[in-house]
Amino acid sequence: MKISIGSDHRGVDLKSSITGLLKSAGHDISDCGTHSSDSCDYPVIAHEVAHAVAASRADRGILICGSGLGMSMAANKTPRIRAALCHDAKAAEMSRRHNDANVLCLSAERLDDHPSIVNEIISTWMETEFEGGRHQRRVDQIDSRVDSSASCHD
Ligand code: RB5
Repeated sequence: MKISIGSDHRGVDLKSSITGLLKSAGHDISDCGTHSSDSCDYPVIAHEVAHAVAASRADRGILICGSGLGMSMAANKTPRIRAALCHDAKAAEMSRRHNDANVLCLSAERLDDHPSIVNEIISTWMETEFEGGRHQRRVDQIDSRVDSSASCHD
């Protein structure tokens, strides 16, 4: 699978470990940075990865920042992106089975010292198939409502 990966300065170490894991599993990785511990702005990286996935230049994306929150908020602004912040393998599984998540967001603060959890999250997220059926209808509703926020009143 073609995977676009990116992190801010807080996530560079975790990005490097995950890139190693994915490469050894035979995936094709495109690294959108950042490449050092110098402070940078996560929305710029989120935009790069989200657009690579939305434009089908990558099959899936992975984004890492300190909390994972900023990356998920930023990535979900891109049409056709369903970015899921997952702290464990169960969330990773459900994000694929029910939500067809195409971007995985991770928290370096939570996961830097827990390589076995990282392994579980990555392998589960990469291997779990979308169930389709009623979930396809709901995913279609997410994607079709991207521009309709102006109609929300309360
Ligand atoms: C960077 O200090 C931090 O704000 C960022 O990594 C992330 O946690 C934002 O959501």
